[in-house]
Amino acid sequence: MKVLLNEQQLKQGVDRLAAEISTAWGRRPMTMIGVLNGCIVFIADLIRRLEIPLRIELIQASSYRGQTTRGPLSLAGDRQLELVGRHVLLVDDILDTGHTLATLQNRFWKAGAASVRTAVLLRKVGCQQVQVAADFVGFELPDQFVVGYGLDYQDQLRNLPYLAAMEPGDFRPLSDGDPLIAEQERR
Ligand code: IMP
Ligand code: MG
Repeated sequence: MKVLLNEQQLKQGVDRLAAEISTAWGRRPMTMIGVLNGCIVFIADLIRRLEIPLRIELIQASSYRGQTTRGPLSLAGDRQLELVGRHVLLVDDILDTGHTLATLQNRFWKAGAASVRTAVLLRKVGCQQVQVAADFVGFELPDQFVVGYGLDYQDQLRNLPYLAAMEPGDFRPLSDGDPLIAEQERR
């Protein structure tokens, strides 16, 4: 794996994003909706930099099934969210094909939200298959598979404090003793 963004760079990116969001948002109350599981680290860092009155909802969406290519989007814990008249900020780790954000944005509009905006830590340039506006973007990346800071490969490596790109030799079924995971334990 190759480190793409270290802790310091991630921190600066989230600082920048939080400042942008604060300026654009004003004093309207925010309903932030995070997309699990990938959003956990990003959302935890982001909310502590915002001084906007906000409530937090979490929704589980996944299209990756332990692979690096996407399958159909599945939503879990898909209860009815109370969004009528609310200003929503949808937060995800990465914008790839755009299917996840497009599907969720649509649902939130249908649920009566007054506005729906999106914030992503990362955007893969040139990968969007559906038209979706990301209003706030932390970093743009070329098309590559990345892990750490909440992003996973086979549900592993989310706890890396930095963002790394997987290299061709890294793609294999991971067992607990795999050197990729062992390397992380030695940190
Ligand atoms: P999209 O629906 O194709 O835009 O995919 C978005 C979701 O796919 C994100 O929420 C991530 O969970 C996952 N994803 C996309 N690219 C990566 C990656 O490089 N590493 C880890 N997860 C990814
Ligand atoms: Mg995700």
